[in-house]
Amino acid sequence: MPKIYIAQPTGFCFGVKRAIGLAKRGLKRYERVCTYGELVHNPQVLKQLGAEGIKPVRRLSEAKNGVLVIRAHGCPQKVLAECKRLGIGVIDATCPYVRRVQHVVQRLAADGYQVVVVGEKNHPEVKAILAAAGRGARVMSPQGSLHQTNSRMHKKIGVVAQTTMDKAGFKAVVAKLLDFGYNELRVFDTICAEVTARQEATACLAKKVDAVIVVGGKNSANTSRLTQIVRSGGKPVAHIAEPAELQLELWLRFKRIGIAAGASTPAEVVKEIAQILRMPVVPTTRHEAQPSFKEVVKR
Ligand code: F3S
Repeated sequence: MPKIYIAQPTGFCFGVKRAIGLAKRGLKRYERVCTYGELVHNPQVLKQLGAEGIKPVRRLSEAKNGVLVIRAHGCPQKVLAECKRLGIGVIDATCPYVRRVQHVVQRLAADGYQVVVVGEKNHPEVKAILAAAGRGARVMSPQGSLHQTNSRMHKKIGVVAQTTMDKAGFKAVVAKLLDFGYNELRVFDTICAEVTARQEATACLAKKVDAVIVVGGKNSANTSRLTQIVRSGGKPVAHIAEPAELQLELWLRFKRIGIAAGASTPAEVVKEIAQILRMPVVPTTRHEAQPSFKEVVKR
């Protein structure tokens, strides 16, 4: 039986807990509560909310006759204005830490800085930050090349990070910008402390185990980042969204297994996975038919 180590903290972060609480409280006051997109990037949470009657909508027109919950990632201001125009009630569950980034970029833009957001350009949080940062704002990732974008860059740059960014990636982009010789560079470390705590715990855990299971929604940015952290440390890692994805036969070959979870993964799911791994079940059938660990890791 393998020894199981769980990276701490686990369970919902402050912003996710708050968003779920606000949505559920909304149900007590309003007949119909929906969320603008997925409230959090986690399948178990979405299923549970759906069972309680809180469902995501893609278009604002689908939220008519109801109240719309803005998720923890936030949304562009124009969405709120459109809700007002359409007479849709809003419960704004934007995480205060995300809201802080929006305020920082608004301030930078008002002071004449071109905003650079270090993060993933297609993530809803980044889209909302960009919308708050006004024209000329751009997104950079640690893998991106500054040379390709420089012709359109200003001389006064203000840099912020997507809240789920890792420190190393953020520093890499700032270092590139520093080398480029802008007149002025203002840097705001807007990475969420809850995210940093999970990343540090995961990196630490990966050092003392043989392999790591990262648990969380496949579209969760902070969960994916944990997977990258383990992978860059050279340890085998698999990112799974739910216990059903666990291929016990593959994991029982390891003596020490670590489990790390994203900020929107319920603590019970982590416990369930740990319990499954601790169960003294010896796989006896269809072992050959199972994919190799390498294949699982690649998915
Ligand atoms: Fe907010 Fe940090 Fe969670 S930004 S949503 S508390 S990961």
